Amino acid sequence: MSQNRAALPPEIARRRTFAIISHPDAGKTTLTEKFLLFGGAIQMAGQVRAKGEARRTRSDFMKMEQDRGISVSASAMSFDYREFRFNLVDTPGHSDFSEDTYRTLTAVDAAIMVIDGAKGVESQTRKLFEVCRLRDLPILTFCNKMDRESRDTFEIIDEIQENLAIDVCPASWPIGIGRDFLGCYDILHDRLELMDRADRNRVAESIKISGLDDPKLADHVPAELLAKLREELEMARELLPAFDRESLLNGSLTPIWFGSAINSFGVKELMDGMGEWGPEPQPQKALERQILPEETAVTGFVFKVQANMDPKHRDRVAFVRLASGHFERGMKLLHVRTKKPMAVSNPVLFLAADRELAEEGWAGDIIGIPNHGQLRIGDALTEGEALHFTGIPSFAPELLQTVRAGDPMKAKHLEKALMQFAEEGAAKVFKPMIGSGFIVGVVGALQFEVLASRIEQEYSLPVRFEGSQFTSARWVSGPKAELERFVNINKGHIAEDHDGDVVFMTRLQWDIDRVQRDFPELKLTATKEMMV
Ligand code: G4P
Repeated sequence: MSQNRAALPPEIARRRTFAIISHPDAGKTTLTEKFLLFGGAIQMAGQVRAKGEARRTRSDFMKMEQDRGISVSASAMSFDYREFRFNLVDTPGHSDFSEDTYRTLTAVDAAIMVIDGAKGVESQTRKLFEVCRLRDLPILTFCNKMDRESRDTFEIIDEIQENLAIDVCPASWPIGIGRDFLGCYDILHDRLELMDRADRNRVAESIKISGLDDPKLADHVPAELLAKLREELEMARELLPAFDRESLLNGSLTPIWFGSAINSFGVKELMDGMGEWGPEPQPQKALERQILPEETAVTGFVFKVQANMDPKHRDRVAFVRLASGHFERGMKLLHVRTKKPMAVSNPVLFLAADRELAEEGWAGDIIGIPNHGQLRIGDALTEGEALHFTGIPSFAPELLQTVRAGDPMKAKHLEKALMQFAEEGAAKVFKPMIGSGFIVGVVGALQFEVLASRIEQEYSLPVRFEGSQFTSARWVSGPKAELERFVNINKGHIAEDHDGDVVFMTRLQWDIDRVQRDFPELKLTATKEMMV
């Protein structure tokens, strides 16, 4: 389809919107930090850091903010690198299944997969990779920590190819291993890149080489390592696929760079790769039609809602991926779900080190729109067209627990906190018709812990999660009279979600089958479609 389209306007064509995925500890935060450093968004990479799980519960950007005292905004960061505008979208860092992560990946056009050179493909890498694969996202791979003992290069590449079923093409090739790691041969540009071990934030000049026979190589690489490099590269040329941008863009091939984020090594080559070969803003799907980035009318969709970005205010920021057009501050957009116009007067662009009021944005950008709860995940904003974006997944809550405030007098506060998380899409919250308390539904057990700690931190409210008498929740819809009749007969099983919609709760599949039989006009669904 891209062949038939005219070239994108330059402002759109220079944008790269992507996320970084990795298993915890592979080096995502360090790499992000170096991106920001080379993108001029921060002045110096930080030194101070918290340890372990504590820094993994919230987003990486917040973690950096807390750990290092640098001011970066949560969720999305924009910065310029060479002629490119990078929009780096943060993926939340819980080690459990997280809905947030999945949704975030709907807002990007590409991903960088970071793996640890000693560990290879780990469990979380695989899970996140699968999500990228569902959307055929182009993936660039960074094999990190090459300054330490790592696996054999062919072994790493084989593991990715076999484990993830994707072709791997080396963009660079490591010279030496561990202590003897010298740097890389840049295969795509015929350059020698040497690592500066003395200064972690410095990048040594690249050395242009005319090919593997260039005698200049011997001035920089000891004979033994050079012989090995030549031999390995020859084998690689025979055994591994060559770089092909089309295959990168359709998600069937990933180029791999070897480097060391902490030593700033290999990072610029990766950024160059993202700029030169990464995808331009891609068309987005809506129920009605496909939306092309170059269309002049502005459209966008909310993929994330975040509350408490400023602890003094209880307002929310909706993160909108612009799908088309040229957005300008003050524009009036149609909020398609409520059919109401919305003046976007104080949008935030997460530019460089500070949050800034966005004066403009282009397709591919992420803007933050402060609001009081009107904007929900999946909502569309347009210049008038009734569009419903698809592809933002909705998840069936698989684990249900009852939640109570440690102090029963604080039930109202608890309700407020829970509603906030329901709006953010962090959990499903059900208020039973009979009895007190709330039932919370999630997809991964760790989410209960994350919620408990957030409620305690953000609302100073200790809470307890307990087993619930129910194990399944089904949204019920249908003709009003029939719905009322059903609710009246089943009061003990009925709850409302945060939008006031009716939910049927039970332990037994048999109950669900019975309802479908007795109330054929009603529809029971395991997920609530957020779009319409
Ligand atoms: P994550 O966000 O993926 O969880 O990883 P993060 O960047 O926090 O890095 C995890 C650990 O790996 C950190 O060590 C970090 O310093 C280290 N690291 C990152 N890149 C490299 C690299 O290229 N080489 C080496 N040798 N280590 C690297 P830590 O002990 O948890 O923290 P710190 O005390 O070293 O700061």
